[in-house]
Amino acid sequence: MSSLDLEARVALVTGAASGIGCGIATVLAREGATLVLSDLDLERARAVADELGATAMHHDVTSWSSCQEVVERTLETHGRIDILVNNAGVSRSVPFHELDEAEWDRVNDVNAKGVFMTTRAVVPHMMARRSGSIISISSMVGKEAIPLFVHYSASKFAVIGLTQGLAKELAPYNVRVNAVCPGVVRTPLWEPLLEQLSANKGITRDEAWQEFVDGIPLARPQEPEDIGEAVAFLASDRARNMTGQGINVTGGMQLH
Ligand SMILES: NC(=O)c1ccc[n+]([C@@H]2O[C@H](COP(=O)([O-])OP(=O)(O)OC[C@H]3O[C@@H](n4cnc5c(N)ncnc54)[C@H](O)[C@@H]3O)[C@@H](O)[C@H]2O)c1
Repeated sequence: MSSLDLEARVALVTGAASGIGCGIATVLAREGATLVLSDLDLERARAVADELGATAMHHDVTSWSSCQEVVERTLETHGRIDILVNNAGVSRSVPFHELDEAEWDRVNDVNAKGVFMTTRAVVPHMMARRSGSIISISSMVGKEAIPLFVHYSASKFAVIGLTQGLAKELAPYNVRVNAVCPGVVRTPLWEPLLEQLSANKGITRDEAWQEFVDGIPLARPQEPEDIGEAVAFLASDRARNMTGQGINVTGGMQLH
């Protein structure tokens, strides 16, 4: 018997082939949820799904037809979607004066428009059932921006805005909409970032990583499963009176 009672729930997790998405899937599986794991990288999503007894699907969150297809196939296979986790995301460190339109669009298309489109494909189903929990992964920089990540921060602020507006719009349908804001989680996303930061700041990769870790009051980075714990709680009925929130999982680095 699991503590959060997610046994009868069907969850779709995007970007689940790596890092935080994989950690979220691991916790939701432990809590008994039936999982569909979607990702641009189907092969790696399959490997994670095989370990967790889940279904893997190819998904490009920047494509409306792909979002529709993933939702339709999930409904065909499992009959419903109780939990949507918008986790797929990309990042890059770029000084603002070097930021071009293509890079702005690349990051905002996945992180902001991708959340809109996946959510848009799921919402009519949740409204009709008058039940559902949508959780999107924003970031601590979706609440307080940092230099060299202006376009990424803007995309994560957009996730908070979408979460707040949609929470109010869907409350009459008993659909809850929340965000989780991670701080510093050493996933594959970080490796090119550390390279870019070391070049942009003239420091080593280790020094760039340590700068972030030194700013964490609890003095340790978060693990992917730490984000999964917050997601699983928000997905459960224990969070039945929580909607429109952006929950920080940052070891105390972000306080509002
Ligand atoms: N790692 C951190 O410190 C941190 C901090 C705050 C927020 N986040 C956010 O957490 C989420 C997960 O990040 P991560 O660190 O696990 O990164 P990651 O690079 O390890 O995983 C991201 C996954 O998203 C997938 N993806 C990328 N573009 C996609 C698309 N168009 N359609 C579908 N899938 C796509 C990738 O294939 C990959 O499997 C992201 O939204 C990220 O912005 C991460």
